[in-house]
Amino acid sequence: MRKVWLLFILALALAAGTLATSAAGPALAADKLLVCGICDKSFYETAVKVVQEMGLADRVTVKKSSCLGACSQPPVVEFKGTLYTSMTAEKLKALLAKTYSGS
Ligand code: FES
Repeated sequence: MRKVWLLFILALALAAGTLATSAAGPALAADKLLVCGICDKSFYETAVKVVQEMGLADRVTVKKSSCLGACSQPPVVEFKGTLYTSMTAEKLKALLAKTYSGS
C-alpha cells in the first residue's frame, strides 16, 4: 500500500513539473541562417560576426551547410526559406535589420 502512495505522489510531482513547464511556454526558437560552407569557406565567420555585432545571437543561429544550389554566385545563404546569393556583410546586415526591426 505504501508503494502505491509513493507512485501516486511521484506521478503528481511529474505532472506538476510538466504543467509548470508548459505554463511558461516554449522557448522561442532561433531563426536559422544557413551559410554554404563549400563555395565560400570564409563567409560563415563573417555571418557569425554580423549576427553577434547586431546583438541577434539569441534570435539567429548561424550554421554551415552543404550546397544550397546556387554555387555560381557565392557566398550563398538561406534565411527563413529564402536563398540569397552574392551575399556581403552589408547585405546581411540590411536583411537582418529589416527582419528584426520593430521587434
Ligand atoms: S557549393 Fe555553395 S551553393 Fe553550391
